[in-house]
Amino acid sequence: MIKKVSVNTIQKIKNNGEKFSVLTAYDYSTAKYLDEAGIDIILIGDSLAMVALGYDTTHKIGVDEMSIFTKAVARGVSRAMVVTDMPFMSYNIDIESALTNVCNMVKYGANAVKIEGCSDYILQVIKRCVESGVPVMGHLGFTPQFLNTIGGYNIQGKSYDATLSILEQAKKLEEAGVFSIVLEMVPEESAKYITENLKVATISCGAGRYCTGQVMVSDDMLGKFSEFKPKFARKYGDMRSLILDCAKQYDYDVKHGLYPSDDEVFKLSEDELKQLKIHSGTI
Ligand code: KIV
Repeated sequence: MIKKVSVNTIQKIKNNGEKFSVLTAYDYSTAKYLDEAGIDIILIGDSLAMVALGYDTTHKIGVDEMSIFTKAVARGVSRAMVVTDMPFMSYNIDIESALTNVCNMVKYGANAVKIEGCSDYILQVIKRCVESGVPVMGHLGFTPQFLNTIGGYNIQGKSYDATLSILEQAKKLEEAGVFSIVLEMVPEESAKYITENLKVATISCGAGRYCTGQVMVSDDMLGKFSEFKPKFARKYGDMRSLILDCAKQYDYDVKHGLYPSDDEVFKLSEDELKQLKIHSGTI
């Protein structure tokens, strides 16, 4: 039987000084392949707003859309932990609506949720989720849902004081019960210091080599999203070219009568063909 990745698996990896992998997925078949490949955590990131739905920021996706993609991904995964990003303002209004939205994601198949930030209110939300049996992944450093108050895609934790401030926030998240924390766009020396001073695992999203885990947007990793490439993303494939090549070939084949071939059509038996000819008056 497949052993599902749990919060205990992640803690064991952190305690043993090992590493784990996280990738985003938004659809059933991609999730299935990532799971088959051994990826430990599959994140339905709100990045899906931009890379899969074409919105210009992650602010434009809501719980309804995140729910659809959570259900699709969860149906494709057997081993990995499925984590859903709680979208912008889905947990910020009041604790009751936050818990309702979180609870629905779990009902749709998420094993955990990701929540950005560390205000006193967010800490309360996290505590209530964990008390209710929902593991929470924190997210510090650059937090895309706060883009407009941060003022741009700026690297976080660049000074000693800024690093200490992220560490302080991370410790508060740890105390509130998160099982891991994404550090986004943080210099690797700062992320190393933060990681070494925490009991829970950190996950680097452009935070260098010393975090416990690494996360990447799968569309960046596969070379599918081509509008921009973050410095920390590595292209392992070129799905954009693959899709273009296949689509052009298909277009050519259709227009030149090369698709479908004899092997790709359904045929009548001789008797059925005879009946057709009789009825259509061709014999
Ligand atoms: O939305 C997302 O995909 C994320 C990860 C890249 C951390 O938040």
